[in-house]
Amino acid sequence: MKISIFGLGYVGAVSLACLSRDGHEVVGVDIDRSKLELIMAGKTPVVEEGMVELMQQVAASGRVRVTTDAEQAVAETEISLVCVGTPSAANGSQDQGAILKLAESIGRAIGAKGAKAEPHVVVFRSTLVPGTVEDVLRPIIEKLSGKKDGVDFHLCFQPEFLREGSSIRDYDKPPFTVVGANHAFPAEKLKALFGHLPCKFLETSVRSAEMMKYCCNNFHALKITFANETARLCAALGVDPFEVMDLVCQDTQLNISKAYLKPGFAFGGSCLPKDLRATAYLAKQRDVEVPMLAAILDSNEAHLGLAFDAVMASGKRRIGFVGLSFKTGTDDLRESPLVTLAEQLIGKGLQLSVYDPEVHLAQLLGANRRYVETHLPHIGQLLKADLAAVIAESDVLVVGLNDARVFDALAAHCRPEQQLIDLVKLPNRDAIEARGARVAGLCW
Ligand SMILES: NC(=O)c1ccc[n+]([C@@H]2O[C@H](COP(=O)([O-])OP(=O)(O)OC[C@H]3O[C@@H](n4cnc5c(N)ncnc54)[C@H](O)[C@@H]3O)[C@@H](O)[C@H]2O)c1
Repeated sequence: MKISIFGLGYVGAVSLACLSRDGHEVVGVDIDRSKLELIMAGKTPVVEEGMVELMQQVAASGRVRVTTDAEQAVAETEISLVCVGTPSAANGSQDQGAILKLAESIGRAIGAKGAKAEPHVVVFRSTLVPGTVEDVLRPIIEKLSGKKDGVDFHLCFQPEFLREGSSIRDYDKPPFTVVGANHAFPAEKLKALFGHLPCKFLETSVRSAEMMKYCCNNFHALKITFANETARLCAALGVDPFEVMDLVCQDTQLNISKAYLKPGFAFGGSCLPKDLRATAYLAKQRDVEVPMLAAILDSNEAHLGLAFDAVMASGKRRIGFVGLSFKTGTDDLRESPLVTLAEQLIGKGLQLSVYDPEVHLAQLLGANRRYVETHLPHIGQLLKADLAAVIAESDVLVVGLNDARVFDALAAHCRPEQQLIDLVKLPNRDAIEARGARVAGLCW
């Protein structure tokens, strides 16, 4: 394939080397002439394992050319990979100076390209804040080219996952390939380029692809910080942090797995909140800073606050709770976020009725009973055994039960104009809305 690569830093230079190694004809573009000279001399513009030998090899192959002329690069190729830098601005925002300038050049280049067999494909590989390709770069390129995305040319986003220090190995064995595209044509082109790699090839929307790159980096930073905060606390307690983290990683059921990584309502229950509080206290006692661990409960409260705000924003007074315990299938009410929410709403003078098939007042014992008696002293009057009755007497339903029978009952009994605040991502939202009820997800 004939490929132009814009920006020959770590990502662009490694891509240029690997793509030409794999037999493609590559035109490298950079505004920094010294990088272009190095590449033409068979030298690497970045320090990376394996790049010295690979650059010598590909420069000698005759498949690599370089230029500062974007128009020429677009004219001579069928696909452009954009790898310019997107550093932090002083205020923390993304400095898009380079990519905006480049979008103008690419727009003019596509405009000048004239009629050809295939529409040009532009693949943004720089990390870009979600919405940049469709809301910022597309209008610039369409305006300056006088042509239309999705018709005359195609813009798409493919996040880059290589790590400096092992980038050639990562290029050849990425965790996966993710392509955000609005059209099959650019996705097929990228499959032709990267489909042979030993990993999944996943297609998604442009915005999801932009966002998931941030999620990946944030998750990596979170994991490192988790290990380091744990290590600081371990050191203060005379425990071997390597042994502890190794044991933590041995659990591939709950720890190193998909578990707990699905968006939902706030967490609660008799373990997580109390153990986080004890951890923060332990750290304080030993003068150990664990700002990330200490902030988790605040974040959880902010999440609970979304449900509170949604109920208050409805302006209604008769509120039905579908679910009360801290998770579906248990009667444990201790530190249930739904109990906290109920407490807050009662505090605002709202009228509540509650359905939870697992919660039977007469059977609540010990700490569980004491907890609910302290937080919801009149729970006996709120609890109803009949879900249909709760639906009938409520203007707003807070749905916190993940149960197929509940979903069916909601679809059967909810009425027009009734509002549902969905904390579980209702699988039958369409059926409920078809009855005229309004469903608002927590953040979905
Ligand atoms: N470095 C990494 O490990 C890595 C990994 C994944 C993703 N990324 C993302 O990839 C992007 C590139 O990162 P990098 O580390 O390779 O950047 P870099 O700073 O090393 O290189 C960027 C290059 O773009 C060139 N450039 C700037 N404006 C240009 C223009 N108008 N035309 C052509 N070239 C231009 C610069 O001269 C420079 O050579 C960033 O968005 C980064 O967040 C980087």
